[in-house]
Amino acid sequence: MSYYKIENLEEYFKHYKKSIREPKKFWDRIASENFTWYQEWDNVIDFNMAEAEIKWFTNAKVNITKNCIDRHLAKRGEKTAIIFEPNDPSEAAQHISYNELYERVSKMANVLREQGVKKGDRVCIYLPMIPELAISLLACARIGAIHSVVFAGFSASAVASRINDCECKMVITSDGSYRGNKAIDLKGIVDEALEKCPCVETVLVAKRTNTNVNMKEGRDQWLQPLLDDAMNTNVAEIMDAEDPLFILYTSGSTGKPKGMVHTTAGYMVYTAYTFKNVFSYEENDVFWCTADIGWITGHSYILYGPLLNGATTVIFEGVPSYPDFSRFWEVIEKHQVTQFYTAPTAIRALAKESVEYVQKYPLQSLKVIGSVGEPINEEAWHWYNDHVGGKRCPVVDTWWQTETGGIMISPLAFVTPTKPTYASLPLPGIQPVLMDEKRNEIEGNQVTGSLCIKYPWPSIARTIWGDHQRYKETYFSAFPGKYFTGDGALRDEVGYYRITGRVDDVVIVSGHNLGTAPIEDAINEHPAVAESAIVGFPHDIKGNALYGFVILKESGENRDRDNLSKEINQHISDHIGPIAKLDKIQFVSGLPKTRSGKIMRRILRKIAEGDFSNFGDITTLLNPEIVDEIKDGKI
Ligand code: PRX
Repeated sequence: MSYYKIENLEEYFKHYKKSIREPKKFWDRIASENFTWYQEWDNVIDFNMAEAEIKWFTNAKVNITKNCIDRHLAKRGEKTAIIFEPNDPSEAAQHISYNELYERVSKMANVLREQGVKKGDRVCIYLPMIPELAISLLACARIGAIHSVVFAGFSASAVASRINDCECKMVITSDGSYRGNKAIDLKGIVDEALEKCPCVETVLVAKRTNTNVNMKEGRDQWLQPLLDDAMNTNVAEIMDAEDPLFILYTSGSTGKPKGMVHTTAGYMVYTAYTFKNVFSYEENDVFWCTADIGWITGHSYILYGPLLNGATTVIFEGVPSYPDFSRFWEVIEKHQVTQFYTAPTAIRALAKESVEYVQKYPLQSLKVIGSVGEPINEEAWHWYNDHVGGKRCPVVDTWWQTETGGIMISPLAFVTPTKPTYASLPLPGIQPVLMDEKRNEIEGNQVTGSLCIKYPWPSIARTIWGDHQRYKETYFSAFPGKYFTGDGALRDEVGYYRITGRVDDVVIVSGHNLGTAPIEDAINEHPAVAESAIVGFPHDIKGNALYGFVILKESGENRDRDNLSKEINQHISDHIGPIAKLDKIQFVSGLPKTRSGKIMRRILRKIAEGDFSNFGDITTLLNPEIVDEIKDGKI
């Protein structure tokens, strides 16, 4: 029996038990039977949760791209690895075979080496969803450079802070990008960012929009001529299992974004294994995940997970609403997609439109449909199940995080019975526990608590770039000896998990994880603002939207409030990006604070939601009178 694929529920329970009782044996076998190694490990796992030190497959030697590409060439050389579906449906789709992918990644890897990038160097990738994006990540991995992808919707100052935090030596970008009927000047954003980034020596620019851009002498180079001159074979760098593969920034509840560091072997084994089982992947399936590669979902389930399994994966440059709301369905039909993986926010937005957009297409190719990024509400779940999955495709509601690297709690398609809004059962190797406020583990079923994981899994992030102390404090100190997810969850009568949402100051807006602190910092930089507090409130399409309570300085009090609101949102756009804009702004004279100066956000959350019924205990507030004032201001 192979351990790699779980065929039915009984087998799931058997594998799950094995993975908990004998984690070393379990992962040892999966790793050695399904991947190509230069050298196998001394130890499957070494860890110390108190110190947040975790190592998997110690001393093993491997290169992830050998596993994503080279080992498939003999059997699947002519098979399509990547289908590129452009923003504009009248532009032809591209099919990139594994042979071609090998050549293009080799060329790119050779260009990077020629440009002086070495093992361990950091490379910032700021590209739209075009083949060069996937190829750039793989080329970095090929030569052992650490990729740090910054989502191409982030502003210049967000790009600059991410580049500086991990001191990238190179940026790979494009002249521009297309999104729906808009063209965006990506290179201009990079130029602005680089004014503050002395560490960047080289910028490689791919052509996409053919627009005029500034090329800085001695720093910027067009990518294509370099690729044309490069050799089309490349010898992969031999990497240690624990060498960093990439850094990916995620919002924290306080302070600057956290550069989560993922390492090579554990990430490889876990993303491949979860891809295979959650989506029940079979040879010749066509897998489409609609996320952007700039997020973890794209890293793990557009790129690495599918390629590690020799799959065909779709890279979609566009948006669900262009040219009209049937684009997703048209693309599924066109490429005969078998697994479709998207976010609740997209589902809700499409469900608002006429159902004819989706009914126009039979969607018979689909076998599995997935959801990720935020809790999926009952209505959206049913719409997705009925109209997209035709009630015949299992809906896999996958719960996981940037920090976890791969899917943690989810139904396995055709194995786990699904239940609307429930992420259901943990993957093998994952030990979720619910904790109460006294830090005790809550036993039994039909309970709720803070979701922790009590044993490491192969793809857990190993640290925060440059700040191991912060990693330890953020994830391992609230509940000593356990990894704290920041989410609350409920366990039902049969042990199924439902994620209820964040229990910290992170708000998930349209599936994007936004820390309130950096947004407040951006607002507070506006010259008329004294202080601010952000909370999330329910929104029909985005899941949550942002509500800002803003205290003005004296100098701002006579200003026009509509103009001020616009300026504040512009400030947020410039500092973070348009995704962090506030839906509502309320100007207030004070914020409810405890004696220790902490803003009591639960009160602000209730006011933002319009629920004035019960504010709970407000006796610890220094200024309880402000609650009525804010409430009355809203009414
Ligand atoms: O709150 C959870 C929510 O998204 C958070 C992680 O965000 P990020 O690191 O950006 O990664 C998103 C994609 C993996 C989690 O802490 N979340 C993610 N998936 C689900 C979810 N909440 C409920 N159900 C899910 N399926």
